[in-house]
Amino acid sequence: MKLTIIGTGYVGLTTGTCFAEVGHHVTCVDNDPKKVALLQSGGIPIYEPGLEELIRKNVAAGRLSFTTSTVEGVAKSDVIFIAVPTPPLDDGGVDMSFIEKVAREIAGAVTSYKIIVDKSTVPVKTGEKVAETIRRYCRAGVEFDVVSNPEFLREGFAVEDLMKPDRVVVGVTSQRPVAAMRELYAPFQAPIMITDINSAELIKHASNSFLALKISYINAVSVICEASGADVQEVANGMGMDVRIGRRFLDASLGFGGSCFPKDLSAFIQIAQQLGYDFALLKDVQRINEQQMERFVKKISDTLWVLKGKQIGVLGLAFKQNTDDVRMSPAIELCQRLQREGAVLRVYDPQAMEKARAVLKDVTYVEDMNEVATGCDALVIATEWPQFKKLDLERARKGMTHPIMFDGRNLFDPREMERLGFIYKSIGRR
Ligand code: UDX
Repeated sequence: MKLTIIGTGYVGLTTGTCFAEVGHHVTCVDNDPKKVALLQSGGIPIYEPGLEELIRKNVAAGRLSFTTSTVEGVAKSDVIFIAVPTPPLDDGGVDMSFIEKVAREIAGAVTSYKIIVDKSTVPVKTGEKVAETIRRYCRAGVEFDVVSNPEFLREGFAVEDLMKPDRVVVGVTSQRPVAAMRELYAPFQAPIMITDINSAELIKHASNSFLALKISYINAVSVICEASGADVQEVANGMGMDVRIGRRFLDASLGFGGSCFPKDLSAFIQIAQQLGYDFALLKDVQRINEQQMERFVKKISDTLWVLKGKQIGVLGLAFKQNTDDVRMSPAIELCQRLQREGAVLRVYDPQAMEKARAVLKDVTYVEDMNEVATGCDALVIATEWPQFKKLDLERARKGMTHPIMFDGRNLFDPREMERLGFIYKSIGRR
């Protein structure tokens, strides 16, 4: 099938590439000429494991192309995906201006029946607004359907999540686009759920909020574990063995971040408010997440006493493993808080240093993770990169003024760290 994706961010670019990989002909549109030129020349603006090779392969096979022209993209395909950003507003709401602009652009370009699919994460009832906008701005008599098809990919695992989805959710207002949507997704061999548009939009916000809730839940349990001498990983393992609960997203941490969870939670709380419901439960999820960071910073300052002038090594800047994304990164927030207390930082991340440089100033960026601890009063693990488990602990211990580690991701075994001579403080474990 021929399809067009408008917006080549994490979602649009990975989605388009994976559709090409299964045999569809995909045109990716972006209004940033530099980005399009980079993609056309075989470059890639983000770090996402496996994506670069897939883009090259599918461009070479003639199934994937890039353009700045929405008119060209709309003319080429029968199915048009909207995958533009929906950034947060200061009041917790969602900035819908990109979606609205693209809807008008599509309206101006359509000359025959099109299926317009919204992939961006949007508040419930957005599909209705998109349809209204297109109807208002398109030429008389042109037929179209608006479909909601939310994305559930995780950054860092985006290709895997797209190629093997747990489910595909398709929200429609008529049966007309259903066959095409089924055909589009048939190669992925995943269960396809056909529902109404409002439910599809809500499935996305409700899912992300629930996952954030799961993390805040285990983070709250981690506080009880610390106070009682229990081990939060043991508790999570035991809980996770119940198939009704499941083990995933029960890793206690210094809090969740990224471009999705914080934004989607705020948006869902605001939408609920507008619809007359005070979603206090989700406000608590946010509160627990903020407190988790505060508690971690307090743990550091309680141990080191005065932070002013102390040298602290920080491993990890990305908001999670496997990505170079530092948007709403707990690791960056932690660094900034430590800086405000006067600490001097030496930092490292396997992929995110370039993006971090734009937001995190006056720190020493270290190129080798094993060099970070040198001369430090403490070492902090802020992102769950698996390679940090291979840190040369002996070298770190010898290079530090005093071997203290604060592990915000529970990467190491407390007993082993003690045996190696570290004062080791993690989350929810003695
Ligand atoms: C999330 C959803 O998982 C995905 O389905 C949706 O499409 C987009 O939002 P993403 O933001 O890429 O994906 O990252 P995710 O892997 O969900 O992690 C989010 C944050 O939670 C990270 O900061 C991560 O470190 C943290 N986290 C995750 C925990 O602290 N504990 C966990 O057990 C899991």
